[in-house]
Amino acid sequence: MPKTAATQVKEQPKPAVEAMADLSLEGVAEISAALRPLLADVFALYLKTKNFHWHIAGRHFRDYHLLLDEHAEQIFAMTDDIAERARKIGATTIHSISDISKHQRLKDNNEESVSAEKMLSEVRADNRELTRFLRATHEICEKYNDVATASLVETWIDQTERRTWFLSEVLQNH
Ligand SMILES: [Fe+2]
Repeated sequence: MPKTAATQVKEQPKPAVEAMADLSLEGVAEISAALRPLLADVFALYLKTKNFHWHIAGRHFRDYHLLLDEHAEQIFAMTDDIAERARKIGATTIHSISDISKHQRLKDNNEESVSAEKMLSEVRADNRELTRFLRATHEICEKYNDVATASLVETWIDQTERRTWFLSEVLQNH
């Protein structure tokens, strides 16, 4: 039986990125390409902050242990929103731990023993770096008028700067 025009249209392969929102395909591609490494970085920083929360020792143990847990919780809360923004605009995101390691820009710390001071200054540097990545993502969102993602990014910048501030204050009085 000859194929009708309708069946032929149905059999067309789906585009890799389907514009779900009113954003252009180019916008969706560029925004999701920024969100993917951002999500990988946030997962990497979450695990590093937990790692330091678990392994920190010495003077001020209780304070540092609790501060790092508070930070980890805040960082983890970003993950679902980042992934779902990608889905809401019609793109895909991270699938696995190996996907995270492929896309993360922030480095892991697998050292067996790290001093408390080194831990705090390392996560402070990572949070600063994360702010830079967030600002770059914001610029891309603005370029395509994706106000919803931009608005989330603004909140995350504020939270990340707050973490950096706390870590700086703690380090000054360490
Ligand atoms: Fe804990």
